[in-house]
Formats: sequence, C-alpha cells, structure tokens
Amino acid sequence: MLTLQRAKELHDSQVTEAHLILHAKNVMYAMGAMADHFGEDRVHWMAVGYLHDYDYEQHPEAHLQFTEQPLLEAGVPAEDVRAILSHGYGICTEVKPETNLEKSLFTVDELTGIIQACARMRPKGITDLETKSFMKKFKDKKFAAKCNRALIQQGCEMLGMSVSEVAEICIAGMKPYAADIALLGTEEGGESC
Ligand SMILES: [Fe+2]
Repeated sequence: MLTLQRAKELHDSQVTEAHLILHAKNVMYAMGAMADHFGEDRVHWMAVGYLHDYDYEQHPEAHLQFTEQPLLEAGVPAEDVRAILSHGYGICTEVKPETNLEKSLFTVDELTGIIQACARMRPKGITDLETKSFMKKFKDKKFAAKCNRALIQQGCEMLGMSVSEVAEICIAGMKPYAADIALLGTEEGGESC
C-alpha cells in the first residue's frame, strides 16, 4: 500500500511549484476527511491524494500520460495508480472511478479548488468558513469561473452525495491544517486573491 512518506518523495521529486504543492496538500487533507467519512484508511487516502498530480508540472499538456509507467516502476501498487488515473476520467483518461476512493478523488480535486478560492477571500481564511457561505460561492458561476462545477456535480452523483455534503466534509477536513495550506486568511498574513 502506498505510504504517505513514499507519496511525498515521489511527488516532490517531480513537483516544485508552490501552488501545485498547495493543491496536493488541499486534496490530501480533503481525501483524509473523505476516508474518515467512509470508515476507510485515512493515511492511505491522503497518500493517493497527495500524489494524484504527479506528472502535471512536467507534462501539463499531457496530464496523466506520464504517470502509469513511472509510478508502477517506482513500486506504487497498481490499484493506487488506477485511482490516480481515474481522476482524469472523461478529460484525459478513460479510467472510470469505481471505488469510493476513486470517486472521492475525482470530486475533491476540483472541489478543493473552489474551497481554496473562497477561503482566500476571507479575513479569517478557511478557519470560519461555513458550508452555507461556500455553497453561495459555488452557485455563483462567475466566482472562480475556471473551476468546473459540472465535474464536481458528476463526482458527487457518483458518490451518491450532494455537493454540500461533500463540501462540508472537505472544509472540516481542511480547517485544522489552515496554516499548512496557507488559508489562515488575510488578517493572519495569508494570501488574498
Ligand atoms: Fe489535481
């Protein structure tokens, strides 16, 4: 099984840009919370979440085309590689999310982007962000317009959950790590957008 330490070694050997590392952490913490929700292995889900964009910095135009072989050769279990490939389902792979881990990764990859954008605008960052406020921003198509709401909806449908249920889990899962993901807010000297 992929360990968090191994996921970090592999990911950080390929990814150096600060914003991409922050994204990996956002997805990692959200995946930890989703694992708790499903009663699954938290650290394992976090590891897969952290590693999911392994080839993106090096191959942004061919995302997930440079993932399968190197990760298998590096000893990452096939089921974890499959999970990573499935987050690009319908966009850059044909690997359909089947397990709750895969469906969660597919969903939170995009969902954490809007949570991050939303939290960055707030004086107290993510620390006092409530799901209700988040959902207002989610429904405002002009806000963080590049984040693909349809993909998030599709992922939530696969999970059999509402966007608000998944967002609640992810926000709660990210809050304790606000400092690590630079979401303490503008009052605390965090980044604003
Ligand atoms: Fe991602």
